[in-house]
Formats: sequence, structure tokens, C-alpha cells
Amino acid sequence: MRDRPRRPKVTVTYRLPPPVEARMRDLFDAVLRDDDRPLTRAELARAAADTDVLVPTVADAIDGALIAGAGERLGLIANFGVGTNHIDLAAARARGIPVSNTPGVLTDDTADTTMALILWTPRRFSDGERAIREHAWAGWSPSAMLGHRVTGKALGIVGMGRIGRAVAARAGGFGVKVHYHNRHRLPEAAEAGAIFHADLDAMLGAVDILSLNCPLTPATHHLIDARRLRLLPPHAYIVNTARGPLIDEAALADALEAGTIAGAGLDVFEAEPRIEPRLARLPNVVLLPHMGSATFEGRRAMGEKVIANIRAWADGHRPPDQVLEGWA
Ligand code: 8YV
Repeated sequence: MRDRPRRPKVTVTYRLPPPVEARMRDLFDAVLRDDDRPLTRAELARAAADTDVLVPTVADAIDGALIAGAGERLGLIANFGVGTNHIDLAAARARGIPVSNTPGVLTDDTADTTMALILWTPRRFSDGERAIREHAWAGWSPSAMLGHRVTGKALGIVGMGRIGRAVAARAGGFGVKVHYHNRHRLPEAAEAGAIFHADLDAMLGAVDILSLNCPLTPATHHLIDARRLRLLPPHAYIVNTARGPLIDEAALADALEAGTIAGAGLDVFEAEPRIEPRLARLPNVVLLPHMGSATFEGRRAMGEKVIANIRAWADGHRPPDQVLEGWA
């Protein structure tokens, strides 16, 4: 194993909370950003060519070619975020470069955002806000701005990891019946009354609201495609705070335009920051700019996790949040 530097060179791709950057300056030879312009591919490659640790985010494509071309000294990819679909884990493994992430500290914020979209979308709150801002509200009437009640409805959660379970716990407080689909059934105590569906297709027909809370992997890419959208009842809403490519966005726009589902609440998109223009034109779609975990508290905790992972690695230990998929 190559020697680990006492004061590693750590290259960060976006600005981080000031206390996190200050700590990084104390502990590491930190190369920090002074703006949030995305690094070009060439800039990323240059950064990876001469650093001990790279700290990317979801907005950086750390693909196989970039990892293969990284410098000899690159010893750790310490991702700022929990999802690692933007990093070619197999390529990192092939070069013996561990990848770490920041699980746990953004669970509640992301679950809160999910719950907000679950409430917000069927109740048409965006329509209401737009009416006021566009000076189109003529006053109260019994038939204005009617949406669908959430209490008593069936919520289907795809992916019962930390975030999925946190969404289920919140939904219970709103009188929502929780169904879920997951690779494995949870132990009964962790299920807390939620109904397990081994077959995703079978769950879709049984839910009023579908929430995606699973990771993006080759197996879950376009998990919700045109065929599965047709399995949802026409009054169903779909909420996605996980990753855009879980849904075939063009098929979603088709379904929404045709009215074969009732609406969507989306925090993530297939090709961020580009939004499928048809989605932006539909009033029954709530759009958020990937802000599921965007809290001051969460970002700081994510930064602290990144630092803890780098320190463990520099001390010769396995980073506590090393992503172990495929590692012995
Ligand atoms: C983060 C996220 O903001 O952690 C994740 O996987 O999707 C977000 O909530 C982002 O990843 C930061 O890199």
C-alpha cells in the first residue's frame, strides 16, 4: 500500500460551508473553490491528476476514463453526498481507490422534502401560489383550487433504506397507509405496519401516491417507464426526491399530458439542470431544483463526514463511510 500523506492534498469541486472549509484548511493542504461554476471535464481531470483526495459532488461526473487517467497519488474519492451513481465505483475499485460518502446526515432533510411534495402536489399549493403572484386570485369560492386529500390515502415507497423508512414514519403521522417495495422485506418491527410488495408492478395498482427513495443503479435506471406508469391509477401522483433517471422523463411527460396519472412532484431530473420543457409547462407538476437535503445543518454535517473519512484514510484506516459495493 502506498504511504498516506500526513497532510494530504484535498481538492474540492464546489464551495462548502465556511466552517467546513476552515477546518479543511487547518487539517489538509486544501484546494478550495471560490465560486460554484461547475468544473469542466478538463478541469476535473487536471484536479484528479495531482491530488491525494478528490471531494466531488453529485454534479461532477467521475467516470471510468477520469478515474483511469487520475494521478498515481489519488488515494481516496470522498464524495460530498450519499448517492454515488455519478462515480464509476468499479473503475475506482480496479485502481484500488476507495470511495466514501455521507450517509445518515441528510436522511431527515430529504424525508422532509419528500413529505412536503407528497402534501404539496395533490393539494395544488403551487397553483394557488401562482394565482396570487400572477394577480389572478379573484377571491374565495367553494369550488376554487380543489385538490386531493392526502390523509387516508395509500403511499407506495420504492426503496426502504434510511430515507424511505424516514418518509414512512412521517407519512404515518399524516394518516397515510404505507406500502413499500424493496429488494428485501424488512424485519416486522422495522416495517411498522407497512405492507411489503415483492413485486413492484403489483404495488403500483394499489397506491394513490408513489415515492421513489431508492438509489440509482443500472438495475433501477428508468425503473418507472411507460409500461409501469400505465399500471398506476389515473388519480395517482408520483414524487421523486432520489435521482431523475429512475423515471423515464419523456414517458412521464406523456402520461401527465394524456392525464393517465394526476400529477408529479419532482426534486430531481434526468439531465440536471436541464428540465424536460413539457414538464415545466404542466400545472400539475411541482418542480424543485434538487434541494432535498439543502439545509445549513445538513450541509455542515455532510462536510464533517467528508473530513472524518479523509482523516481516517490518512491515518491508515478504512474510511468509516467507505462504499463497500464490490469490495472484499
Ligand atoms: C446532495 C444528494 O445535495 O447526497 C445526495 O446523494 O442527492 C443530495 O441531497 C448532493 O448529493 C450533494 O452532492
